[in-house]
Amino acid sequence: MSNRRIVIKSSKPLFGEVAVAGAKNSALAILPSVVLVGEVCRIENVPDISDVSLMCKILSKIGVKINMISPGCIEVDPRCISSVCADFDEIRYMRASYYLIGALLGRFGKARVSMPGGCDLGLRPMDQHIKGFEALGAKCEISGGMTNVVSDRLVGNRVYLDMVSVGATVNIIIASVKAKGTTVIENAAKEPHVVDLANFLNSCGADIRGAGTDVIRVNGVSKLRGTTYQIIPDQIEAGTYMIASFATKGNVLIKNVITRHLESVSAKLMEIGANIEYKEDTLRVSYDGKFNRCNVKTMPYPGFPTDMQPQMVTLLTRCKGTSMVTEGVWDSRFRYVSELRRLGAQISVDGHLAVIEGGNDFIGNCVKALDLRAGAALIIAGLFASGVTTIENIHHIERGYENITEKLSSLGADIRVVESSNNRKCYHVLGA
Ligand code: UD1
Repeated sequence: MSNRRIVIKSSKPLFGEVAVAGAKNSALAILPSVVLVGEVCRIENVPDISDVSLMCKILSKIGVKINMISPGCIEVDPRCISSVCADFDEIRYMRASYYLIGALLGRFGKARVSMPGGCDLGLRPMDQHIKGFEALGAKCEISGGMTNVVSDRLVGNRVYLDMVSVGATVNIIIASVKAKGTTVIENAAKEPHVVDLANFLNSCGADIRGAGTDVIRVNGVSKLRGTTYQIIPDQIEAGTYMIASFATKGNVLIKNVITRHLESVSAKLMEIGANIEYKEDTLRVSYDGKFNRCNVKTMPYPGFPTDMQPQMVTLLTRCKGTSMVTEGVWDSRFRYVSELRRLGAQISVDGHLAVIEGGNDFIGNCVKALDLRAGAALIIAGLFASGVTTIENIHHIERGYENITEKLSSLGADIRVVESSNNRKCYHVLGA
């Protein structure tokens, strides 16, 4: 069996230009929502990542035709859907597969979908999604690992989310677009990809207002039409390159970004000492001779994104003094700290709080990516660690970063993917 690893040798400061791909989380909401639209849509700027391939596979399995037009451009034809039952392994590997529930319910009045998987970040309940579907009049039942929803006619209603949930906001928007009357989602998520999904559906004829604020109003429409739509750039990928540039004391121009989406990340990086220059759709991030300690708390957008937390903790290990990072979204998002410790990090974790004693040097070692963003953090750590760092379980990283090793190589990093037989032990050279 093949076992792919990323091998990184201690790198020089990153230098050059890198272009950011389309947003993973937008693509994973927009592609299944084409099921609701019912007509052919052409989606552009789709990132070439394994989560998108998996989503396309899931859609194909229920009868959606997927046509790759050119790199980044996918035509999705949902006219001949053969089943409202999605019960196969692929669903269980991906969180966003639960958007099929909203899409199938909205179009056919019923759906039967296996419980979703995704990164292990602690408990990932779906109670707010169900609350929304029920408010629209659907009967919901979870049994035998399946979510069953059914409704003769969805009717708009007021849905107050008990906590800000991206997934529930997206799912309720999708389900309510063709409901009778108006749905009002209160305490809605404001993430850029919620706005992107609403813009996509509006371009198909939906009437969604207020996306990007915490009250979203969906006036039901009876018909949607196909469209061509371009996905926004991925702000987490951009943020990851911002931190990689700064943490390696580099100077990188990051292209194809929406700078407004990166304000919380930029603000924190400037507090730590980064020099950041904005220009239309580019950002230049460079080291300015200092790494100041700082405290960070993750929050729903526009707060500091939880999906940038592992990369930020990794950066803070470079900053002399004590920094504190509070995880405000997920219950269990510091598991990767044990891997950073193997490289030399001094971090203690107590529940939602990580205390980082920064300033000591990292030495390469063999580590495991425990989830997508934790994997990105280990790559950043490997870039500034001395010697060789080998990262296992890189399928997590490939779920969400398009060509990450190629992009970093083009910035001067010594990084590559190696294939080796499964039973070979992870081997690395210290101080090479
Ligand atoms: C999405 C993102 C993920 C990001 C997260 C938070 C996608 C595909 N994934 O995940 O990368 O880390 O937003 O920005 O877009 N919750 C409940 N009940 C629910 C739903 C959520 O209690 O029904 C809780 C969760 O346990 C968590 C919090 O709400 O503590 C936020 O979850 P949510 O925003 O729904 O995250 P996802 O949509 O799964």
